[in-house]
Amino acid sequence: MRIGILTGGGDCPGLNAAIRAVVKRGAAEHGCSIVGFRNGWQGVIDGDAVPLTRDDVSGILVHGGTMLGTARCHPHKVEGGMEAVKDTFDHEKLDGFICIGGDGTLKAAGKVSKALNVPVIGIPKTIDNDVVGTDAAIGFDTAVTVATEAIDRLHSTAESHNRVMVVELMGRHSGWIAVTAGVAGGADIILAPEEPFDINKIAKRIKHRHRYKNFSIVAVAEGAVPAEGSDWDGESTINARGNPIAGSIGAQVTHAIEDATGFATRLTVLGYTQRGGVPTAADRLLGTRMGVAAIDAMVAGETDKFTALQGEHIVLEPFSTMSGKTKWVPEEMLEAARGL
Ligand code: F6P
Repeated sequence: MRIGILTGGGDCPGLNAAIRAVVKRGAAEHGCSIVGFRNGWQGVIDGDAVPLTRDDVSGILVHGGTMLGTARCHPHKVEGGMEAVKDTFDHEKLDGFICIGGDGTLKAAGKVSKALNVPVIGIPKTIDNDVVGTDAAIGFDTAVTVATEAIDRLHSTAESHNRVMVVELMGRHSGWIAVTAGVAGGADIILAPEEPFDINKIAKRIKHRHRYKNFSIVAVAEGAVPAEGSDWDGESTINARGNPIAGSIGAQVTHAIEDATGFATRLTVLGYTQRGGVPTAADRLLGTRMGVAAIDAMVAGETDKFTALQGEHIVLEPFSTMSGKTKWVPEEMLEAARGL
């Protein structure tokens, strides 16, 4: 078989582990040839293909980012996009696509599979960890590790200066990184989109804490929002495309806390550091396991599905499981984040 592979959406550590697994397993076990497409679905539309051999992927396991490049491109939203994908599929004499991406890229994969009737298997990746149907997506563990280390480091400087430290973490729609790293790093207040906040209650909690401690750490997801009807005169934190503006909610929460408490308050925006660098062991493992499962599924004739971690196992889920949905942080984790 001849299989095309692409990485779409925001990059993250662990993508190369998945590409490497598809190429090596495909060659060694199934005699497949693998064709990489540069910059996600855009590369498929443009016919920007590169053959991938075992030698090409040797050594990439530990590298962050994606050797193929990535882009936020959805063929069904581009004029003539679907037809161009079909042209490339035929021109390259492909038997299917393996598509590594987050919610947008996987939704597009489902549309390609159905509309063009070509085999497509997806692999979920996103530091946001918000893909429904899988316990974890590639990249999340590394982002949490980076964010937890940052929160650890903020403790000593916060304490030395008697400050409130606000740290803004990625997470557009759901607060997985803020909640997970916030709990693991011992943040005192954690703000996630799942639970709109009341700045007055937060200021009260910080003032209470500062009766016996001289510092506080506040972890804020970039998608966190004030509760309706709460006392908040901040600006919109959302851009024209409906996504959070980096640093916006963090800056506004920082100013609001300083105004309401009178405590010196500082902001750290971790931003893209959460997406960069070497993948953790867990992300290398997840990328590898999902890459193996994806090529095996493709060879077995599966289509219109994505690999999913469920408990101890990698299984296949139909794209319809995740399409148009968001995996929210569960109540039990939010409870742990509410403060101990
Ligand atoms: O979806 C992953 C993510 O890193 C989000 O956490 C963040 O809001 C967004 O991507 C940033 O997107 P871009 O790379 O387009 O700036």
